[in-house]
Amino acid sequence: MRFWKSLIATAAVALLPWAATAQTVKIGIINTYSGPNATLGEQIDNAIKLYTKEYEKNLPPGVKIELIRRDDTGPNPDVAKRLAQELITRDKVNMLAGVVWTPNAAAIAPLATEAKIPFMIMNAGTAAISTMSPYIARVSFTLWQSSHPFGIWAAKNNIKKAFIAVSDYGPGHDAEAGFEKGFTDNGGQIVGKVRMPLANPDFVPFMQRIKDSAPEALFVFIPAGRQATALMKAFGDLGLDKAGIKLIGPGDITTDEELPNMGDAAIGVITMHHYSAAATRPANQAFVQAWKREYGPNTTPAFMAVGGWDGMAAIYHAVREQKGRIDGDKTMALWKGWKNDQSPRGPIMIDPETRDIVQNEYVRRVERVGGALANVEFETIPMVKDPWKVINNRK
Ligand code: DHB
Repeated sequence: MRFWKSLIATAAVALLPWAATAQTVKIGIINTYSGPNATLGEQIDNAIKLYTKEYEKNLPPGVKIELIRRDDTGPNPDVAKRLAQELITRDKVNMLAGVVWTPNAAAIAPLATEAKIPFMIMNAGTAAISTMSPYIARVSFTLWQSSHPFGIWAAKNNIKKAFIAVSDYGPGHDAEAGFEKGFTDNGGQIVGKVRMPLANPDFVPFMQRIKDSAPEALFVFIPAGRQATALMKAFGDLGLDKAGIKLIGPGDITTDEELPNMGDAAIGVITMHHYSAAATRPANQAFVQAWKREYGPNTTPAFMAVGGWDGMAAIYHAVREQKGRIDGDKTMALWKGWKNDQSPRGPIMIDPETRDIVQNEYVRRVERVGGALANVEFETIPMVKDPWKVINNRK
């Protein structure tokens, strides 16, 4: 009996140093796992899973990351807020991450501030989001970041008259304002504008009206996923392409994972965006290969996947540097100025002043490559800062 007691005591003492350093970091992931937009959440989550599989082994000894996933079911700010509240108070997470939708990110922002919980945005793209809490950093994009330089590019590339159609909420309003400013500052003219409902839009009446006003180009923002395919179908079915109207927009309208569903109406569509699965950078080719190995040869990572992937890289950086003992302010300091020149999208940096992403924007054209549609990059605007913050001097 005494022998066993002393053996157990010795074992416990021997385990102590390990026990003292073992550290589990809890990350609350708020994402869209169900409903009509579940394909978007799946993109982000598959990237999170793949990153974990490849890099978990590089965490410091004894440090573990526990991911606690919650389903916001779509653009539902009340649900997102309740989930964030529960993750903070009940699950005691050290960080929050994820979030496809702008209204959800905006609803969570005050909770991150109050609890001093770092919140890594992996998608939501309205420019103002990063100004809503000093505990927010963003690794995705802003709609201004693609749409403003694209307005400049369009005006300089022989488009003189454009019509703007956007989903009627934050990112749509930003895409509209950004494109209009870039385009009209450089001599372009807006011949019409329309805002379309975010939920269950029927694009047909809008396309008919736009066709009747005969612009040279139609600039559109709708959220990626199935809406992009529905938009492309209405554009083709009503013959806007045959009427000589060029469809243009941020990359959401030709998102890589939906291209196989779009058909020939998408061919020739020009967009500006920060990521294409067809990019030939070695870091991207390695990423796409790993993705296809993991999820099947007919699957494709799109820009939301890259948001999830790079968000995990930033989270792992903060966890490694703090050896798993997470402090909110220290984490934000580590994210400010964080750089990664090996992102699948090219070099990226989190701007130390605004906590927002700085990245290349690429002009791309949908082409058939090896039998499948692809967003082929043909021009680069290097290291674009969110123009809304630059123009309005916002931090
Ligand atoms: C949001 C932005 C996007 O670009 C998108 O494709 C979907 C959602 C958003 O911020 O809500």
